[in-house]
Amino acid sequence: MHHDRYDNPLSTQSAEAGQAYVEGVDHILANTFGGVEAMARAVDLDPEFALGHIGHARALMYANDMGGARAAVDRAAARSHGLSDRERSHIHIYVLLMSGKPVEARAAVHLHVRDWPRDPLVAQLNCQVFGLIGFSGCAGREAEMLAYTSALAPAYGEDWWFLSVHAQSLCENGRPDRALEVMERSLELYDGNANASHFKAHALYEMGETAAGRTYLDDWMTGYDARGLLHGHLSWHAALWALEQGDMTAFWRWYDGGIGPGTGPGSALPINVLTDAAALLWRAELAGQTIEPERWQAVSAYATERFANPGQSFADMHAALAHAMAGDGEALAKLAEASGGFAADLVRPVARGWQAVARQDWEGALHALTPVMADHARFGGSRAQRDLLELTWMLCLLRLGRKDEAKRAAATRRPVFAEAAPLAGYA
Ligand SMILES: [Fe+2]
Repeated sequence: MHHDRYDNPLSTQSAEAGQAYVEGVDHILANTFGGVEAMARAVDLDPEFALGHIGHARALMYANDMGGARAAVDRAAARSHGLSDRERSHIHIYVLLMSGKPVEARAAVHLHVRDWPRDPLVAQLNCQVFGLIGFSGCAGREAEMLAYTSALAPAYGEDWWFLSVHAQSLCENGRPDRALEVMERSLELYDGNANASHFKAHALYEMGETAAGRTYLDDWMTGYDARGLLHGHLSWHAALWALEQGDMTAFWRWYDGGIGPGTGPGSALPINVLTDAAALLWRAELAGQTIEPERWQAVSAYATERFANPGQSFADMHAALAHAMAGDGEALAKLAEASGGFAADLVRPVARGWQAVARQDWEGALHALTPVMADHARFGGSRAQRDLLELTWMLCLLRLGRKDEAKRAAATRRPVFAEAAPLAGYA
């Protein structure tokens, strides 16, 4: 019997199908381009290979082909008879996911990894800031993510993928120094892992290492396929650092090369296109740049097209920003009254906050945003992404002439910004 790289038996008699599956899993775990092709090859070679269909589904999800992913999960489910308990549980979790049951899927992942921790295509669903814990909307979800990866650590040891997701948890729980050490080890084992380069960038961001971070990431990205899932988001990190260093030529090169709607090869997920584009334009305005209205209108139109109804709260919070800046009052009003989504209770005040910011009503914006600051981690995403809120809150204080309070807030909440923040008028 063939096995995957984590010693799990594979229910296929075809060595070539098993090999293609292992290759596909590595592409998925590293967010490198080629996962769909490898998994399609695995199931072409052995159409009865049930977990091959799940691998194919996972790769298709990353390629934003949800219809294709659903069909692949259905094919796996139709082949689950006679499989091991692990394989049936593995398939069941993806059925839950495809049925729009993230809460049940998250709980099922927790149960699954108790028996089979080294089953990464299941284990990874609860990892990372966009995962089932990340987007749970639950209070304390950052700590839950660290508890989750810490519990898995003994089962994985020195594994490049696991170390990279554990380092993410450390980074998002205020341990960027330790995260960087763990991530360096992950990169030593496999330098091509985009999840590792990504959160090495986060750790450096958290440490305020702008020059070192920019140099590292610009260099790492020269070897990363532009069709890779994280290319757009890594470009966002590179553009943020370019902005901090006042290099607007590089900033716009990144934005127009794969961050903004309709740019690049189109391989970024819509949630990344919307959130990265809106955040970057606003971060540029926070830094004192002027953004042409057409830029905001393009992001607002994209949000309307791809996220017409409230439901994905992290996306909704960014859509509201784009609508406010583009002057689309109707779309914004819908979000200011959102009831759907894992953090709709936070989307509503943030949408009202952006509305107030757009009309330069700083007192109104401060009033709307202040209650959200206590636990905006419930939105999901990374701390670096949610600095959008931290910096906007500080901006309100600055505009109201309360600079001391802004500085104290930074020192308390985001010490990396205590001395200097990428916010015009703060230093
Ligand atoms: Fe990031």
